[in-house]
Amino acid sequence: MSLEVRDIGKSYGGFKALDGVRLTVETGALFGIIGPNGAGKSTLFSVISGFVPADEGRIILDGKAIDGLSAPARARAGMVRTFQVPREFRHLTVRENLMAAAPQQTGENLLGVFFRPGRVNEEEAAIADRVDQTITFLKLTRVADQPSGMLSGGQKKLLELGRALMAKPRMILLDEPFAGVNPVLIDEIMERIAELNGRGIGFVVIEHDLQALTRLVPRLAVMDRGRIIAEGEPRAVLDDPLVREAYLGGVS
Ligand SMILES: Nc1ncnc2c1ncn2[C@@H]1O[C@H](COP(=O)(O)OP(=O)(O)OP(=O)(O)O)[C@@H](O)[C@H]1O
Ligand SMILES: [Mg+2]
Repeated sequence: MSLEVRDIGKSYGGFKALDGVRLTVETGALFGIIGPNGAGKSTLFSVISGFVPADEGRIILDGKAIDGLSAPARARAGMVRTFQVPREFRHLTVRENLMAAAPQQTGENLLGVFFRPGRVNEEEAAIADRVDQTITFLKLTRVADQPSGMLSGGQKKLLELGRALMAKPRMILLDEPFAGVNPVLIDEIMERIAELNGRGIGFVVIEHDLQALTRLVPRLAVMDRGRIIAEGEPRAVLDDPLVREAYLGGVS
């Protein structure tokens, strides 16, 4: 799945959170986004995924404009995002959280329950299977039936990834998957991302942990004050004087 962001602008009051952002992510890519606090990285994800409307510009998925689609419709189209602060239901178990993240089920439609009960059971069984596979894949078996509020920071990030996977995505936008995660689990999360990427899922990853991110992605873009100020291979980008200046001058 390819993603093209064309000249996106987004203002809050008089403040330009996004100011003419242009970006292309090729099918199956592992692409990074870095930048100082407040640069507009999370806002860009919100606009791409349909949680926040842009003031101007277009979002193109596989050659088709998706600006008119809701966030759930974009997820059904194959693109999902995770949040900087994990949004799991704290009182639900890991398994229940994954169940709840499965896309629209026939059973939610009352007519479906009355007229196609067999189909509903089949669908529930398929979702339960998928939840089991996801738990195994993310190595969350030991905590699968614990309330997710009790998970460590890293396990919550894994659950957040798992919730995204329930939508059977072709592209996942990860907002700071390593924030608040211990080094061992960072490696674990990184391996899972690389493995999913090997299966053809594209990733765009926002991260402040440059050491981890540069090990993960072959290409990244740098945002500062609502704009993309550099893009390319990580080492070259980090050597760019504009980028160095943004980091030295821009952190609030
Ligand atoms: N709903 C909103 N209302 C007003 N201002 C907002 C809103 N959302 C974001 N902003 C502002 O837009 C700017 C960009 O915010 P954003 O969260 O996208 O930054 P970021 O690059 O993700 O930063 P961080 O690295 O700290 O997560 C910030 O100045 C923020 O205060
Ligand atoms: Mg952010």
